[in-house]
Amino acid sequence: MSEQIKIFDTTLRDGEQSPGATMNVAEKLRIAEQLEQLNVDIIEAGFPISSEGDFEAVKAIAKKIKRSQVAALARTDRKDIKRAWEAVKYAKLPRIHIFIATSDIHLAYKLRMTREQVLKDAVRAVRYARSLCKNVEFSAEDATRSDINFLCRVFSEVILAGATTINIPDTVGYAVPSEFGDLIRTVRQRVKESEKVTLSVHCHNDLGLGVANSIVAIQNGARQVECTINGIGERAGNASLEEIVMALRTRKDLLGFQTRILPRHIFATSRLISKITGMVIQPNKAIVGANAFAHQSGIHQDGVLKEKLTYEIMTPESVGIPKSSIVLGKLSGRHAFRERLKDLGYRLPEADLQRAFSQFKQLADKKREIFDEDIESIVVEEILRMPHRFKLIYINVVAGNITVPTATVQMDVDGKLIQEAGFGDGPVDATFKTIKKITRTKSKLLQFAINAITSGTEAQGEVTVRLEEKGQTVIGQGADTDVIVASAKAYINALNKIEFKKQKLVGM
Ligand code: KIV
Ligand code: ZN
Repeated sequence: MSEQIKIFDTTLRDGEQSPGATMNVAEKLRIAEQLEQLNVDIIEAGFPISSEGDFEAVKAIAKKIKRSQVAALARTDRKDIKRAWEAVKYAKLPRIHIFIATSDIHLAYKLRMTREQVLKDAVRAVRYARSLCKNVEFSAEDATRSDINFLCRVFSEVILAGATTINIPDTVGYAVPSEFGDLIRTVRQRVKESEKVTLSVHCHNDLGLGVANSIVAIQNGARQVECTINGIGERAGNASLEEIVMALRTRKDLLGFQTRILPRHIFATSRLISKITGMVIQPNKAIVGANAFAHQSGIHQDGVLKEKLTYEIMTPESVGIPKSSIVLGKLSGRHAFRERLKDLGYRLPEADLQRAFSQFKQLADKKREIFDEDIESIVVEEILRMPHRFKLIYINVVAGNITVPTATVQMDVDGKLIQEAGFGDGPVDATFKTIKKITRTKSKLLQFAINAITSGTEAQGEVTVRLEEKGQTVIGQGADTDVIVASAKAYINALNKIEFKKQKLVGM
């Protein structure tokens, strides 16, 4: 029997720290349900002290999730740990995850603490957490740039204080595989107490080595890997869950490890994260990118037609990529719609189902074939996006080569209807300027992109915008058969995310 590797998913915590990715409670809950379906061992649901929203999200996830462990992050302060426990204690399998930096760089410039102080804090924190919860993880932030003697000393002491998992993060994605493998082996050899606990790694991707480092760590004794769907996360992101899992599975002959992940749910999970965060998946992204299983050259196509093994090391079906995603049309009824939603992993309460179905009917009037992607858009836009400060009620845009582009927009702002008109250099510019006037917001547009969700001229346009306000960036998305309406929806979605972000109290 091959050894089992625990998959610790931190999409909802480290993933949410991706520039632009912000999720509300309903969105996080939906993702957590999907992660449970994917069968991840541990879901890191958030950092409860960081905001009221994070606290509520962790609590809601803890109450809902039954099969996966639910982890909440905390610094070593007593009030952080208490807050984490207050949120996660409802879980069937709760975990408190404590971290403090151990590198001299972090100690000198960020924490302004001595090594002795850090050690004392870490031990005190783990002891306190253990008095609340029997499942406690300790992370030595910036472990890969820490003095190895100090790192091992900290790990020994926190294990004696009750830590059940010790985590070695490559916080800044600095390590290269050979040295990271050596580090894991050294910790295992020198920290005798580590035999009794799970050794974990958490790799960032600044040098594009997050997955390679995770795999080499497993080969050297790590039995838990921390990762995110689509590899989203702080800066260049975290090691990607789907890449680690499929590498272990595809190269089981060489590596000899397995996970409990059900790969057939990978694709749907990846799509859900992308839709909710607004972070588009690059087409050549391994496993889940649009081109991951596309064969372009004639020689490759010929080979695959003769025998898939020639150029395919795994099948698209194994990661849940559907053969065709055309699903429904104008004549499809509620029952077919509900069944399709179920296949896509959405089980909606009756009232939400009704709302989604009526949106579907409206879309089917404009568009002959409704694809899975269209249905996902409806669910994310109409159901998961909770009522926000700003809502689009009406938009009319006049544009052409001999008129000054003009937008008339009506919006609901905190429950009050406001209408304005404005000009711009083009229809999108006029729309955004008018929305800005109505909402009295000051954000700067950093990026604007349009994509067709599916093929054909009647396809829905999906617009992604990136806005910045006072150093905070957010990504907004909107879809519609009319790209100007999609643009307005994306812009308003981003403005609402900025409002949501303003509620956050502490960052990391
Ligand atoms: O990258 C990091 O060090 C972290 C820790 C909190 C585990 O995210
Ligand atoms: Zn991290």
